[in-house]
Amino acid sequence: MMSNLDSQEVVSKEIADLHAGAEGETQPRLDFAPYRSSLLRHPTKDLRHADPEGAELVAPVFGHSDIDPVEADLTIQAGGEPIGERIVVRGRVLDGDGRPVRGQLVEIWQANAAGRYIHKGDQHPAPIDRHFTGVGRCLTGDDGSYAFTTIKPGPYPWRNHHNAWRPAHIHFSLFGTEFTQRMITQMYFPGDPLFALDPIYQAITDQKARDRLVATYDHDLSEHEWLLGYRWDIVLTGTHGTWMEADDA
Ligand SMILES: [Fe+2]
Repeated sequence: MMSNLDSQEVVSKEIADLHAGAEGETQPRLDFAPYRSSLLRHPTKDLRHADPEGAELVAPVFGHSDIDPVEADLTIQAGGEPIGERIVVRGRVLDGDGRPVRGQLVEIWQANAAGRYIHKGDQHPAPIDRHFTGVGRCLTGDDGSYAFTTIKPGPYPWRNHHNAWRPAHIHFSLFGTEFTQRMITQMYFPGDPLFALDPIYQAITDQKARDRLVATYDHDLSEHEWLLGYRWDIVLTGTHGTWMEADDA
């Protein structure tokens, strides 16, 4: 197919150039040219700090009674069994000192096994699975643990460059205790051949930091003749955690 988009070779060269000498940067760069649209949508002015208490007056609220346990099982939500590889993703949400973060609202969204989202913006020719919504949520337990039963998502194409494909991933949102603390990230699956080619994954220039986004296969979580298990812990080290640590010292 003819295309005026850059080739993977061009994008991979840009990634390599930006990675050179950039070890130790653990957060994705807001402005990472190989990820084309990052140039258009990152903030150009300093962020305005909202008054957290003011934001709480208009922000969504939730509590234990608002979350149904069925929402953590994406394989039973839509009136039939979705197609694909059944998996469980389990882990803990921890603060920077390794303490569990309890009662945390964890939300996920993902493509189906064929790599298709139910979204009008996703029109690529892969089938929609009418038994799979691709969204789930739960609250962390007292030990900070969360678990989702779901279907392993497929990789999908996007229009960043010619023949661009995202590695399989699950989007995660964590709300913290206040709306203004929301954090969003992505979890990946071990051994994905698309890691090296993906400008979103590679927007984090530090290899160890990238590795932390990849779940591990855990055979103890797998269940006989039922599903495969993956483990992924989320460690929050925001400014709040840093401040707490300094305060203790
Ligand atoms: Fe995605």
